[in-house]
Amino acid sequence: MRATVGVFDSGVGGLSVAEALHRLAPSLEIRYLADTAYFPYGDRTVAEIADRAVLMVGRLIDQGANVVVVACNTATSAALERLREAFPSVPIVGMEPPVKPAVEHSVSRRVLVLATAGTVSGARLARLTETHRGDAEVFTVPMPGLADLVEAGQIEGPRVEGVLHAAMDAPLASGVDQVALGCTHYGFLRPLLRRMLPEQVELVDAAEPVARRALHLIAEAGLVIDAEAAEREVLCYATGDAAAFEAAVERLRAAGAALPPTRVSRPVA
Ligand code: DGL
Repeated sequence: MRATVGVFDSGVGGLSVAEALHRLAPSLEIRYLADTAYFPYGDRTVAEIADRAVLMVGRLIDQGANVVVVACNTATSAALERLREAFPSVPIVGMEPPVKPAVEHSVSRRVLVLATAGTVSGARLARLTETHRGDAEVFTVPMPGLADLVEAGQIEGPRVEGVLHAAMDAPLASGVDQVALGCTHYGFLRPLLRRMLPEQVELVDAAEPVARRALHLIAEAGLVIDAEAAEREVLCYATGDAAAFEAAVERLRAAGAALPPTRVSRPVA
């Protein structure tokens, strides 16, 4: 059977994961669902996000997805176990802030994690940090409003730079040498962050490892990617206004974001 990967996020953020998947396997069939009607997830309750996540993954499976990537740290934190219980026959890959590689790479033994308020307050990140911290200090900073700026296409400019400076300056001054991106929206801020950060500070992003994990699960499940087939567009759906979602994607593209080829489907899923 042919592999179809369903990727879901609250908005455009998970396209940073879809981009990695598409780059690694251009002919792979990818369906992307953005829950824009409920964006942002970062400020919502765990119960609310978990209910939405079950609904979204159910829709992707109804549309033919046989592997699912929850390309949202906040939804993974709120709902991964529940999703795996609800859909036991479909491999589901979650997304966690890359605390482990950041700690492993840190020479100064100081790591900064940027994530949404929901992810920062969740038990999942606390567990992850406890497990992998070792002798390192892990600064975890909630970034309310940052995903909203990215959703609005602001991946450059004084406003977003100001928000990042306010969050990073003190941890950087204390010797942080790893910045872990704990929200898929922040993946689009990589070029800006690279310019803002001192050369010795490493940026750690989970998009590509998660994409590789999804490809591994495809192979393990015996699903097929026709490597000879032509490159495929990522077919996108939004729960909110499709035209507004398409405009959000095009704003990001115009701002220079790395995105896969996309086609936004109407009417709304
Ligand atoms: N992209 C989502 C994440 O990875 C969060 C954005 C939001 O707050 O909806 O956490």
